[in-house]
Amino acid sequence: MDEILIYKDAVEPIYQQLARHLRLQIESGRLAPGNKLPPTRDLARQLGIGRISVVNAYAQLQDNGLIAAHPGRGTFVTSAQPAPVPAEPIWAARDALNMSMREITRLARRPGVIAFSGGTPPEEFLPVEALRHAINTVLDRDGAAAVAYEEAEGYRPLRVSVAEYVTSLGIQCHPDDILITGGTQQALDLVVQSMLGEGDRLITGNPTYLGLLDIAHIRRVIPIGVPVDADGIRLDALQNAIDEHQPRLIYAAPTYHNPTGAVMPLHRRRQLLAIAKRHNIPILEDAVYHEMGYREDPPPPLKALDEDNIVLHASGFSKILLPGTRTGYVIANGPLRDRLARFKQAADVCTPALNQRAMHAYLASGALIGHLNRVRAELRARCEAAIEAAHQHLPPGSRWVDPTGGLYLWVQLPDEGPTAAELYVTAIEHGTAYAIGSLFHTDGSGNRHIRLNFAAHSPARIREGFERLGAAWHAWQHTYHPAAYRTPIL
Ligand SMILES: Cc1ncc(COP(=O)(O)O)c(C=O)c1O
Repeated sequence: MDEILIYKDAVEPIYQQLARHLRLQIESGRLAPGNKLPPTRDLARQLGIGRISVVNAYAQLQDNGLIAAHPGRGTFVTSAQPAPVPAEPIWAARDALNMSMREITRLARRPGVIAFSGGTPPEEFLPVEALRHAINTVLDRDGAAAVAYEEAEGYRPLRVSVAEYVTSLGIQCHPDDILITGGTQQALDLVVQSMLGEGDRLITGNPTYLGLLDIAHIRRVIPIGVPVDADGIRLDALQNAIDEHQPRLIYAAPTYHNPTGAVMPLHRRRQLLAIAKRHNIPILEDAVYHEMGYREDPPPPLKALDEDNIVLHASGFSKILLPGTRTGYVIANGPLRDRLARFKQAADVCTPALNQRAMHAYLASGALIGHLNRVRAELRARCEAAIEAAHQHLPPGSRWVDPTGGLYLWVQLPDEGPTAAELYVTAIEHGTAYAIGSLFHTDGSGNRHIRLNFAAHSPARIREGFERLGAAWHAWQHTYHPAAYRTPIL
């Protein structure tokens, strides 16, 4: 048996860590059918853990059919086939989707197209002058250190600033608990890599953030989609999914969820935490849009309500500040934080020193609050323009919930008429683009949904773009269902 490393302070329970190690060794053939596992007492002593953890790990593997206990003789690896690794068709379909995604993105970049398809804030929101000032300050002050390697954990003063910043959101944490990452995306990826193995299940909302599905795909983790309603992940369905799939992690984006814009109310946040605690499943919280509300303040992040240290909080400065500096962070503590730092080191050594130091200088200048207030006011104006334009121009029967934060309007097209994918090329021909809803789904559903990043354009361009979209829909109906438009002859 290979060496097994158990982290006693990790969020992941000890017995699950052990079961995961053993499962990987069995599935990779390092523990072959017929091999005898050590008696629980011996393995517990060897690993310095409680015997009950070993008993629970063996019980889990036994339930999965990977090992069998023979009274009097011991516990053996069975000849059962390893647990199914991601069904190829799922990934094959996703590869096909990714291909078409590239094509879709290329089409949306055509000159003159008013594209609502992207996920970034508009360029005019980015505080370029303040960044120039911050970079110059850092280069003058730090010289070569500003362009040298940084610790894998991140530039210490930035970690202090982030700890102060998240305290303002209600999260108690020490700078040592913060790992600076290459954007929120890398924070999510590092957590998935360090906590899940190939074939493990990850719960997410359905629909969900496309970048999370990409991570699951690349890491060969199986995403289990749980339906989302106007208040976020549905907890009855979550409970069923846990019972059925024994997931190892729950991904939740409770505030201004991408793509739906849903905000999970306080009581549901507490219930979600209670469910995760009851089943000992860590939650990966994605809070990248938390500060982008333009109505009332959202409830506190899950991490602020987390009394059991069960939440890993990932966020970053892309949406509120500067996407291209790739500065994000994840909050975790103890051995798990160290493990994440090792994965970070292996991925890219460190987030560029200049970016981290410039971000620190910017935060230290106190300019963030003013910037956020300006961004929120502008987002609100754009959101109002989008809602008005949607009422006026989107096909009759379209449905949506007015967003209260974030960048997106999530629209369900009428049941009669083209699907989002069918309409896409006609929309491009009419000079506008959107993101196709099915891309955000774990099961390919959502083909009548579209996501519109209204924040990308001024109110006038939003009106123009939505008008083009409405015209595209009518043109499609005329082309393919002319009967629907024939005036009856009396
Ligand atoms: C929900 C969500 N999480 C994470 C990210 C990635 O953010 P970052 O640019 O900080 O990597 C995005 C970007 O679109 C997002 O929508």
